Amino acid sequence: MILVAITGATGVLIAIKLLKVLKEKKISTELIISKAAELVLNTETELSISDIIDLASKTYDVNDLEAPPASGSHKLDAMIIVPCTMKTLAAIAHGYANNLITRAADVNIKEKRKLILIVRESPLSAIHLENMLKLAKLGVVIAPPVPSYYIKPRSVEELIEYTVGRILDQIGIESDIKRWGVE
Ligand SMILES: Cc1cc2nc3c(=O)[nH]c(=O)nc-3n(C[C@H](O)[C@H](O)[C@H](O)COP(=O)(O)O)c2cc1C
Repeated sequence: MILVAITGATGVLIAIKLLKVLKEKKISTELIISKAAELVLNTETELSISDIIDLASKTYDVNDLEAPPASGSHKLDAMIIVPCTMKTLAAIAHGYANNLITRAADVNIKEKRKLILIVRESPLSAIHLENMLKLAKLGVVIAPPVPSYYIKPRSVEELIEYTVGRILDQIGIESDIKRWGVE
């Protein structure tokens, strides 16, 4: 089971593509969407929340602190926050578990499970970098959605596919992205 959380940074299409691929591969997913992510979804896509919810096996309300991911007893293989805002990053770095996304991340850290943050902001301030360093030292994967231009992308869609492929690499799921040194 993979828990996917979407927060209000630009790049919501990466999360949507990830959910689509995991669904195609018949991998169960749980989904939490922050309130700010709903705003970004409206700005960056023509999709509605229900379109995204349909891609996940189960969805929880971001304010439902009684939902299963709030507990360490809930079985999870990994949690991916994609995209991850600097606000959610800060909350996680300081153990400020004020909603189901930050609580679930806090739980994943204490249970020593895989937590992957697709952090998105530019430029990065010293506050952002300190928060990332703190979490990286705890084993959290800090993976900004930075393009690899050697794949010679011809479209935004190709860039998104590549980013999703690299996220899948982190959880040991195969994809057919172009790889350096492989023709
Ligand atoms: C269209 C739009 C794009 C945004 N992009 C980013 C971003 O790339 N990175 C970021 O840290 N915040 C970004 N923000 C600001 C966050 O949405 C805001 O800090 C929010 O409080 C984050 O809440 P959340 O972490 O609970 O989703 C953006 C906001 C909007 C409306």
